[in-house]
Amino acid sequence: MQLVSSILILAIALGTYASAVRVGSFNLHQYGSKKAANPSLTNTVAQIICDFDLGIIQEISDVSLKAPYVLFDELNKVSPSPYTMTLSERAGRSNTKEQYIFFNRESTSGLEVVDAYIHPDTEDNFERPPFIGTFKVKKPGNSGVKLFTIMDVHLRPDGAYTELLAMRYVIRDFISSHPQYFDQTETSLQEALDRNVVDATPDNKPSLKSNHPILIVGDFNADCSYISPTRQKLLQTINYVDFSWVITNEVKTNTRQTCTYDRILVNGDNFVNAIVPNSNTTVNIAEKFGFNLAQTLAISDHIPIKFDINW
Ligand SMILES: *[C@@H]1O[C@H](CO)[C@@H](O)[C@H](O)[C@H]1NC(C)=O
Repeated sequence: MQLVSSILILAIALGTYASAVRVGSFNLHQYGSKKAANPSLTNTVAQIICDFDLGIIQEISDVSLKAPYVLFDELNKVSPSPYTMTLSERAGRSNTKEQYIFFNRESTSGLEVVDAYIHPDTEDNFERPPFIGTFKVKKPGNSGVKLFTIMDVHLRPDGAYTELLAMRYVIRDFISSHPQYFDQTETSLQEALDRNVVDATPDNKPSLKSNHPILIVGDFNADCSYISPTRQKLLQTINYVDFSWVITNEVKTNTRQTCTYDRILVNGDNFVNAIVPNSNTTVNIAEKFGFNLAQTLAISDHIPIKFDINW
């Protein structure tokens, strides 16, 4: 009996560490008291998130603060092993504030949340300042990634371009307030700060190269009427030339399939190289659940974006 259970534990352990880790991001479009009161909708959302070992969530909009816990409970009902919920404070300039969430299924993600906080937006650059979470890879593998940071964003549609430019200040502030991550062998803190050019020009582009990967993930509203193709090109070739655009315009991320609003930007070669080729894509909710457009829109006006990675 003991042998059988040892073999079983070994098999589970091997299974856990052999398979790639899935990271997904999803804008839940006003997941508030109304949506939380709909059990079948909440169950569908939980099933979608359950496909991710690490779920990065935007647009939780409940004034009474209960909705995230309803979703959290449902997620742990549909998942074979538990998630932790790292929930942000409500963020937003106006009364319509939102919360961000990191859902981490530690047994399959292999990740531990080190800390998480809302960016202190002292210069008032953001409608909703980003939620910054740092994660530790518990058993680092061949990728060499030991720690990394995710900046979860929901940029204001009509301010998407300027807010995205202001993300360089967020990165700069993160680097200077976390010197412990940037004085390791490859990149000194001073180098990282020097290389993170904030007011980039064609002659003076940022070239941040760090052994502490930084990801900007979420709903950027970075397409169609909000960010023109010309500005997208500027962002990709000048302001964020030192980031890999893991979600390109190859896919559309709104439910109506017209725009690439949601994005994943990664700074850090070790992280980018560990991403499973072709795993960077969207989740087709309509196909997965056999929904029509109206049913899919009832879940959200966005579909999730994701990638798989091997630590
Ligand atoms: C996935 O990444 C590859 C390699 O960087 C890129 O060519 C492709 O466009 C990406 N796919 C999506 C859907 O963004």
